[in-house]
Amino acid sequence: MAKVLVVDDDAGQRNIMVSILASQGHSLLAAPNVDEALSQIYDNQPQVVLTDLKMPGKSGLVLVEETAKLAVRPEIVVITAFGSVETAVKAIRAGAYDYLNKPLEREELILVVQRAAEKFLLREEGEQLRAEITKQLTTGLIAESAAMKNILEIVKRVAASDSTVLVRGESGTGKERIARLIHYQSNRGRKPMQSINCAAFPETLLESELFGYEKGAFTGAQNRRIGLIESAGGSTLFLDEVADMSLSTQAKLLRVLQEREIRRVGGTKSVPVDIRIIAATNKNLEEAIKQGTFRDDLFYRLNIIPIMLPPLRDRSEDIEALVGFFISRSGRPKTVEPDAMKLIRGYGWPGNVRELEAVMERITVLSSSDVIRGEDLPVELRVVHVTAPSSPGYDIPEDGLVFEEWEKSILAQALARSKGVMADAAKLLGMTYRTFQYRAEKFGLKEGQ
Ligand SMILES: Nc1ncnc2c1ncn2[C@@H]1O[C@H](COP(=O)(O)OP(=O)(O)OP(=O)(O)O)[C@@H](O)[C@H]1O
Ligand SMILES: [Mg+2]
Repeated sequence: MAKVLVVDDDAGQRNIMVSILASQGHSLLAAPNVDEALSQIYDNQPQVVLTDLKMPGKSGLVLVEETAKLAVRPEIVVITAFGSVETAVKAIRAGAYDYLNKPLEREELILVVQRAAEKFLLREEGEQLRAEITKQLTTGLIAESAAMKNILEIVKRVAASDSTVLVRGESGTGKERIARLIHYQSNRGRKPMQSINCAAFPETLLESELFGYEKGAFTGAQNRRIGLIESAGGSTLFLDEVADMSLSTQAKLLRVLQEREIRRVGGTKSVPVDIRIIAATNKNLEEAIKQGTFRDDLFYRLNIIPIMLPPLRDRSEDIEALVGFFISRSGRPKTVEPDAMKLIRGYGWPGNVRELEAVMERITVLSSSDVIRGEDLPVELRVVHVTAPSSPGYDIPEDGLVFEEWEKSILAQALARSKGVMADAAKLLGMTYRTFQYRAEKFGLKEGQ
């Protein structure tokens, strides 16, 4: 049975409603005006509110609007004078659950309160689950580096909107994790996020997965099937590995983004869809556009809110925090020796957070000691440091470079950083003094410059 608040300035009317509902086993609260009703709602948290719309002072509509902002809000049923449907519609647009016309019918009153109470329970259960998921997603999300903190800020801001998001980053950097966080923090988070890995399907199958099909669209299509885009209505669609979509599917997706409608495979009718799209990829889309495998117009449509997750090797603050997090999550408390931590931080982590997660899991399970030492680490972490202590790797820019210019700039920088002392500059670049001097002279760089 529900806790119901009855709001009406007319005491007679109020008492009738109270006694009818009390006879059904509900527990009743009553208020003669909106202000009193609001304080009752804050203090006693009723599940259902029945309110007259027209009252002296603030109208019932104000009550609807004010409660719409609450974290735990009751379902509101408004009561209108016969014939004033427009105000009832306005109230429903503002978030009211339903309306009743005066004069009230006993049975109708009982039924609508019962339905409103059920709606409240359903919604609250969903809310609790969602709060639980969001908590899990946020508490276990390590973001110590400035880059990750900045990303969480963006996530917070975009969650409130319906804008399309493109999450990019190497494999294992947390793209899906971020997508889920955006979804569950958004208004759409009441429904589960739908996701699909575009690389996992051959072209035609991907299209029927996404768009669904009509009966008889192709051999084997014995019944109409609703696609993911349609079934994600009111929710979010996560398109993972979006770069692996064929050009023809890309064209269809572009249409969805532009027109906000789809056509099922084999269908002639357009169906409007209400979805938010979050796409992810670890591929270089600019390169794919150049190669002609990705449509540039689709790229612009997807890239409304770009989120770039940096590789783990570029955020060492996160590495250390993640190590601590994975250890504490394992329930086997261990400390990491400074030398071991140095190896962990120095490793390139090509598999990013996923690789670190796996390594830490292996160590916490296998090692019985309370301390993690260098020798507990997998061989690839140790080898890298022994054989290549300072080979940071240099990525040639996409447009290439002129080697001589590059060389000159590196030599000049080394000299500048060594305050013009050539011997120091040579050391900085791992060369002998003679080699450095020879090369520097080639470019007219002199000691003391
Ligand atoms: N900042 C983080 N804090 C804690 N765990 C993280 C973080 N980022 C990623 N993870 C974990 O790392 C694993 C990989 O993350 P996720 O699957 O989101 O990566 P991805 O970028 O989608 O990878 P892929 O490109 O391979 O699909 C998951 O188990 C995820 O929970
Ligand atoms: Mg992923």
